[in-house]
Amino acid sequence: MSRELIVSKIRSGTVIDHIPAGRALAVLRILGITGKEGVRIALVMNVESKKLGKKDIIKIEDRELTPEEVNIISAVAPTATINIIEDFRVVRKFKVTPPEVIRGKFKCRNPTCITNAPREPVEPTFYLVRREPPLFICAYCGRYHELSDLI
Ligand code: CTP
Repeated sequence: MSRELIVSKIRSGTVIDHIPAGRALAVLRILGITGKEGVRIALVMNVESKKLGKKDIIKIEDRELTPEEVNIISAVAPTATINIIEDFRVVRKFKVTPPEVIRGKFKCRNPTCITNAPREPVEPTFYLVRREPPLFICAYCGRYHELSDLI
């Protein structure tokens, strides 16, 4: 175990912990966080973890992410834990779970699906049909997708 924290504790915001090693950038991309928001963001990759061997961590200051916003990251980080920090203390902690509906984030794997047709303004939409392991169905063509198919 490391003797000191690589990144200091934050006063308020959201810590996304237990991200599988190497996936932090994918998590930020899915959340649509670019760094241009102006808030301080700390990214730690490939640090030791008791549970995962190695893990990534993202600390976003002064922004509280809701389960609705973060559940989508279960596509790349099913092990992630979300910690909401207020006044340096963890006031809420929850694990991400696959969302019931995913809109607009991923493409359908069926090349003939209407959502893949050029010039068709149709937002790809997937419904969760099974939780463990997660399985989604395309709302438009009915193609089944595991989370790994969507990424
Ligand atoms: N954290 C932080 N700033 C704080 C409090 C916590 O950045 N003011 C971070 C910690 O560094 C850790 C995560 O938030 O990465 C969760 O903190 P805590 O629940 O105290 O740690 P653990 O008990 O190790 O969490 P878990 O049981 O989820 O592994």
